[in-house]
Amino acid sequence: MKLSTVSELLSQETTLIDVEVKGWVRTFRANRFIALNDGSTINNIQCVVDFENTDEAILKRITTGAAVYIKGLLVESQGKGQNVEVQATSIEVLGDSDPETYPIQPKKHSLEFLRENAHLRTRTNTFSAVMRLRSSLSFAVHKYFTENGFYNMHTPIITGSDAEGAGEMFRVSTLDAKNPPLTEDGKVDYSQDFFGKEANLTVSGQLEAETYAMSLGKVYTFGPTFRAENSNTSRHLSEFWMIEPEVAFMDLDGNMDLAEDFMKSVLNYVLENNKEDLAFLEQRQIQEDKSKPQIERNEMTLTDKLRFVVDNNFKRVSYTEAIDILRNSKPNKKKKFQYLIDEWGADLQSEHERFLVEKHFKCPVILFDYPANIKAFYMRLNEDEKTVRAMDILFPGIGEIVGGSQREERLEVLKEKMAALDIPEEELWWYLDLRKYGTAVHSGFGLGFERLVMFVTGMGNIRDVIPYPRTPQNAEF
Ligand code: 4AD
Ligand code: MG
Repeated sequence: MKLSTVSELLSQETTLIDVEVKGWVRTFRANRFIALNDGSTINNIQCVVDFENTDEAILKRITTGAAVYIKGLLVESQGKGQNVEVQATSIEVLGDSDPETYPIQPKKHSLEFLRENAHLRTRTNTFSAVMRLRSSLSFAVHKYFTENGFYNMHTPIITGSDAEGAGEMFRVSTLDAKNPPLTEDGKVDYSQDFFGKEANLTVSGQLEAETYAMSLGKVYTFGPTFRAENSNTSRHLSEFWMIEPEVAFMDLDGNMDLAEDFMKSVLNYVLENNKEDLAFLEQRQIQEDKSKPQIERNEMTLTDKLRFVVDNNFKRVSYTEAIDILRNSKPNKKKKFQYLIDEWGADLQSEHERFLVEKHFKCPVILFDYPANIKAFYMRLNEDEKTVRAMDILFPGIGEIVGGSQREERLEVLKEKMAALDIPEEELWWYLDLRKYGTAVHSGFGLGFERLVMFVTGMGNIRDVIPYPRTPQNAEF
């Protein structure tokens, strides 16, 4: 007989068949009803134990968290809450779980407690739903790009160029930290290090992706990126996954179209394919909201919110227009913003981004044409010589979810910009080569995968949408 998953059993249309299933006990009620889960679905299958004919010693070992192997007959359920159940004829406890010490009890645990038990938290409904959605979103990303003619490119994780992330990178070194070799002027001599130069973990695969876009046309990377910034917020990780498409001959308008189409496509995918998990998380959010003050509650349910994004155009607004809106906004006039907006050129803080998205426009917003001096060196300078062809996408409840731009394709302009920012040409000689040989307009963006998972699952803390979060002072597991 073939082993079935819980998901397969629950969708079986014929009953009175012999079945086998393995999984973990969620609850064992009245010495009789096992709620069994194996991760294949949010739902449990009820297994009914014939306790009168089952060894007392076995019954005692059926505890929350134990791994069991059940054989029996699939029957229509007598009870409420499920269509089918298994009448167990044989129960084998594969792995015991001591109820005295097992941390995941059948009751509500705080997210903080579960974070400390991240190795077991996917045994809860909330985290198994989140991680199934994460997996599904990842598949949807690859599906979208594959179906749209993109090549998947693996950009390096260890990088020798730190131009993009000056100061916020993790060093990769095999030098003896206590006794590193020094140069004559007393600095650490990285020429004796493993790579013969300073090396770091990448903050983005963009620059390398650009090189491939300029030959393969349409590429994307989807990999881990690392940032050593000390931001302890609910939206920052030190290690996160980023999706970065890069396309030759595409300008900023095309970039915005691509980002919007891509995001709608992956949201549609989970709306179609993850209904049960979304329904569970939607209920979870409704329950959570009950204990929050009115203004913090969600105006839409989780699936309505996803549908709203899929069905409506993202609002495209220039930085200059956004500054006007913010300058004249109530929280600015009443000095409610922590950072007041008075002049053109100010960098936008998340309070401003969230005002625009959540209060003013009430829909996803694409801000574009930012002041050159608050954005990266590689962004395409506009005719006005003050702004660059940058775009950020802001989502309700999340703030910035995408950052991208049209890239500066003109060699001289790029060199001037690098000189002004003291970025040595020797370090990015290969990046400059792209502008020497067959240069062309090109664009791309980066989507923070965990911020997308937050949006889809309604989880409020980014630490709860990645299996093992890395944040300042924390690299457990
Ligand atoms: O805006 P960022 O820094 O853009 C880049 O790295 C570009 N090189 C992307 C490109 O054009 N190819 O990061 C892109 C996105 C952000 O919008 C945000 O969603 C996410 O990555 N992100 C983070 N997510 C979690 N933790 C952090 N510390 C993040 N920093 C950025
Ligand atoms: Mg950004």
